Order: sequence, then C-alpha cells, then structure tokens
Amino acid sequence: MATSRRDRADSYTKRAHKEGYPARSVYKLEELQQHFTLVKSGDAVLDVGAAPGSWTLYTHRNLIKGKGKIIAVDLNPLNLNPIPSTVTAYVGDAFSKEIRETLVAQGPYDAIISDAAPMTMGNRSVDTARSENLAEQVIYLAKDHLKPHGNLVVKVFQGGGQVELLQLMRTLFAKVKPYKPKACRDDSFEIYLVGLDRKEL
Ligand SMILES: C[S@@+](CC[C@H](N)C(=O)[O-])C[C@H]1O[C@@H](n2cnc3c(N)ncnc32)[C@H](O)[C@@H]1O
Repeated sequence: MATSRRDRADSYTKRAHKEGYPARSVYKLEELQQHFTLVKSGDAVLDVGAAPGSWTLYTHRNLIKGKGKIIAVDLNPLNLNPIPSTVTAYVGDAFSKEIRETLVAQGPYDAIISDAAPMTMGNRSVDTARSENLAEQVIYLAKDHLKPHGNLVVKVFQGGGQVELLQLMRTLFAKVKPYKPKACRDDSFEIYLVGLDRKEL
C-alpha cells in the first residue's frame, strides 16, 4: 500500500523526537540541503522564523558542523537546551526596525534560510497574502545582506504571488527553483523557493 504524506509525517515526528529535534520540519531542511547544498561547513547563516529550533539545531550539527555562526530570529524563543555554541538567538519580529538592524549588523551571510510562517487564520487568501508578504521581506533581506554566491531558501504558502516572488529571485540568483519536500504534509500548501548563487550585481 502506498504511504501517504500524513503517514510519513507521523514517522518524521517520531524520528525528530528520537533525534532530539523539537519539530519534524527538520526533515524538510534535510531534503532541501540534499538537493541543493544550501549551507556549507563554516558558513554564516541567518535563520528567519527559527523557533522552536529544529532547522537551527540541524544547521549547527550537520551543515556548519559546529563551525561558522547561526543568527536565529523568531517571534518566539527557541526550544533548545542548551542553545548550541554557534547560535545567537533573538526574539522579536525579524522585520521590526530594531531587530532588522541587529541582523544586518551581524551579516553579510553565506546563507539565509527561512521557514517563517504567519499565524494562520483559516482564510486561505488572507493566510497566503501574509505568507507572501513575509517571503518578500526575506527575499529583500537576502538582496541586501547575502554575500555574492550565497544561497537562500524561503517558505511561502502557494497562491497568487508566488510567480512574482520567483521573478524577483531570478533577478538576484543564478539559479531559482520552487521545491516541495516529501516531509510536507499532503494537506499543506507550503512550498520552498530556493535561490542559488547570489549574483554579483
Ligand atoms: C513553521 S515555524 C518554523 C519552524 C522552524 N524552522 C523549526 O524547524 O523549528 C514558523 C515560525 O515563523 C515565525 N515567524 C512568523 N513571522 C515572523 C516574523 N515576522 N519574525 C520572526 N519570526 C516569525 C513564527 O513565530 C514561527 O515560529
């Protein structure tokens, strides 16, 4: 019998728990990394929408391998104990003036990874518009604070604005791809936009 995304999601949850990750979203980043090699050992990484902290912990353990640095920001605190040695975490809106300035001061970055999502209201068009707005702000952050040849992955809920976001990314990156990891639930309308090799503009 075919395995549904929901069944796989359950096995991802169990595996995440066993491997010490606070959320099964870690396996979305694992798959994105396997396909695109977004982050290298020793990189400076900005993780936007980082809580509870699975992407941050995976990046520390498996991608930068304890070298380099991770700047993690979320409206909520990370649920990691201890906070890994390479991680500096900020709590607040990544796009507020104060936090944005703090993030910018610690750049530029080799990679920006963002799984940020708005609190959903159950209204698909409102949720999608808010997600697109978040994704667009992340892309503009990457435009100004990603090093040449750096990489970006940003989550967006699928809807009207995705084509425009991809177009914007094509002006900034040599290669741009939308990608839906297997670890996404069947009923999830999220997708990840990947930008590789930031152009020298
Ligand atoms: C799906 S969760 C991220 C899960 C995380 N990647 C992990 O693996 O643990 C989405 C996060 O985006 C955060 N978020 C949404 N808007 C934000 C904003 N403006 N600034 C910072 N974080 C934001 C939410 O607080 C939420 O924790």
